[in-house]
Amino acid sequence: MDDRPIGIFDSGVGGLTVAGEFLKLLPDEEIVYFGDTARVPYGSKSKEIVTKFSAQIVSFLIEKNVKAVVAACNTVSSNCYEALTARFDLPIIEVVSAGAGEAARITRNNTVGVIGTERTIASGAYERMIKAENPEIIVYSKACPLFVPLAEEGWINNSVAAAAAEIYLQELIDRDIDSLILGCTHYPLLTDIITRAAGGVSVINPAVQVARKMRALLEKRGMKRGKSDKPEHKFFVSDNSGKFDKISRIVLGKAYKAEIAEVEGY
Ligand code: DGL
Repeated sequence: MDDRPIGIFDSGVGGLTVAGEFLKLLPDEEIVYFGDTARVPYGSKSKEIVTKFSAQIVSFLIEKNVKAVVAACNTVSSNCYEALTARFDLPIIEVVSAGAGEAARITRNNTVGVIGTERTIASGAYERMIKAENPEIIVYSKACPLFVPLAEEGWINNSVAAAAAEIYLQELIDRDIDSLILGCTHYPLLTDIITRAAGGVSVINPAVQVARKMRALLEKRGMKRGKSDKPEHKFFVSDNSGKFDKISRIVLGKAYKAEIAEVEGY
């Protein structure tokens, strides 16, 4: 048994889509969430700076006594995972392999689409991991940077978001993909309009598999929370906690309050 919380971090509020799956699948676990809302977006920044930011956040979460960390942000997972696991001595879970595995499992025509930030797509991480599962799968990738500010703004189901989805996805649909990975934590917020724009394509949110992976890890290492009292989750952001309330209501069904935390000194 290990009663310490699980740390989940993201470049902003998008990681709440991952936290939401944890609340569903691991309802007894406590979560400490950090969203770097002061420095979002990560997707257009360099690998070096995103690695520096994420190491600061992991140090902050360790100070909050977490037993494991989820790099919910795809940009971090696809660019900084090796650097983080080399530096920190606790279990860190990334999100790319979970989404890649699921796509390889469900594609029928071996043609998969991946959407993510510029940095995630440039890393080629999804393509590498999908091909490691099945080298015959063809992967078409597309950076969709506008989805992040749309999600952060709560513009998740209006005509602007719908037009962006149609324009971004058309070239993937033209390639006959049958599955599409939402390779960015913000995109599941736009699931409805993305699913509509993608026609009959299967839309994959890696967060579901990530939560399963964490459950398996906790079970295997005997690290599940033993306390039976209701878990108390804590949420931190680096700026603008007001926006957090709004998005947490949409994603988690409850307007959680976030505390402002400074991580630059870590
Ligand atoms: N949360 C980031 C991800 O999953 C996307 C947003 C950003 O650009 O910071 O990649």
